Order: sequence, then structure tokens, then C-alpha cells
Amino acid sequence: MVLRLGSTAPDFEAQTTKGDIKFHEFIGDKWTILFSHPADFTPVCTTELGLVAALQDEFEQRNTKVIGLSANGLEEHEKWIADINEINNVKLNFPIIADADRKISELYDMLDRQDATNVDAKGVPFTVRSVFIIDPKKTIRLILTYPASTGRNFDEILRVVDSLQLGDKHRITTPGNWKKGDDVIVHPSVSTEEAQKIFPKGVKVIKPYLRLTPSPF
Ligand code: BEZ
Repeated sequence: MVLRLGSTAPDFEAQTTKGDIKFHEFIGDKWTILFSHPADFTPVCTTELGLVAALQDEFEQRNTKVIGLSANGLEEHEKWIADINEINNVKLNFPIIADADRKISELYDMLDRQDATNVDAKGVPFTVRSVFIIDPKKTIRLILTYPASTGRNFDEILRVVDSLQLGDKHRITTPGNWKKGDDVIVHPSVSTEEAQKIFPKGVKVIKPYLRLTPSPF
């Protein structure tokens, strides 16, 4: 099954560092970020998971849960979490899925066998640095894949959550490099006449197809 934006996030059962879960029940009525890392006890991953732990309040403010995954077992995860906490001065509180049999990595297409930089010493592919943003209806809204060599920018993931949540509430899109509070773009499906009625803070017409309005935050 090929997962695309708009696909329903496949449901699964898993062991995690916070107990067994059924994924759709775990999501409940929240936004969810499912992200994988290549392996426990590796340097880039240690910095990444420390960053995610430090951003816990930011995720909560956005009604968003996070859940990690790698093809390691629970015992390794637990030991590694102690390292992450020590090195990054955090208390990692989100669950990490133990996908030692790689069932969920297969389901979410997180194993990139073609990338020669993404295999262990035995030639077995790691889970790549995948990110899925999933909305409360269990629909996949963003898919990202990063190479093993490059740690992700989790401020960018938060930025996308802000953009998606705002676009679900208002008929707007967001420009390149947009961040919370910046002007937003009137959705192309809204005429300028209608935009002037529904966006009381005003509409600036740059071109007939590019109309800005102050952020409704
Ligand atoms: C790392 O997290 O540093 C890493 C993991 C797998 C391959 C390369 C780097």
C-alpha cells in the first residue's frame, strides 16, 4: 500500500515505552506526529529525540501528540532514553514504538533499501528519518523523509502543524517561510470580493491570484 497525503494512517498494534497501544485509539481526537529514527544509541538520533522531548509544551499547545519508532526492542529504548535525558538535560515523556520485527516500518514504508547510506554493517536497512503528521480524522497530512546523515528541524514540523491547523479553520494558505503571526494567503477558491467580507482585517491584492490578509491567530 502506498501512503500519500490524504491516505488514512494505517492502524496497528504496538509495544511502546509507555505500554501497548492501538494506534487509532492512541491518536484519539488529537493531531499526531509519528516519526522514525534509524537506530537507538546513534548520535544524530540522540540529538533529535532530545529536541522533541524539549518541545513537549509546544506540541501540547497544538493539541498534538508525538510518538517515535525504530526497529529496536523495548529494553534498548529504555536504556537509550536514560542517555537522551542525561545528554540533552530533558525528561523524554513521549512513547517510542519498539518495532523490532519491522512490521510497522514496512506498513509505513520507512525502510529505504535503495539508499546505500542507510544500511547497517550487515546491509540491513535502518528505518529512515520519516515524519508523518496525522490529523484527528486519522488522515495523513504531511510525509517527510530525511537521510540518516541529517538531523531534522522540529521547529519546521511545528510550523507545518500551525499552517495545517490554521488552514483547517480559515480559508487560507501560508507562504514560504511563513511562521505563526505572519500574514497569510487568501485561498485561491475565495474571490477577492468574498475575501473582503470574510477577512475583516483587510485584504491586500498583490496580484489577482496572490492576496494577503493578516493572520487570524
Ligand atoms: C545517527 O543517528 O547518527 C545515524 C544513524 C544511522 C546512520 C547514520 C547516522
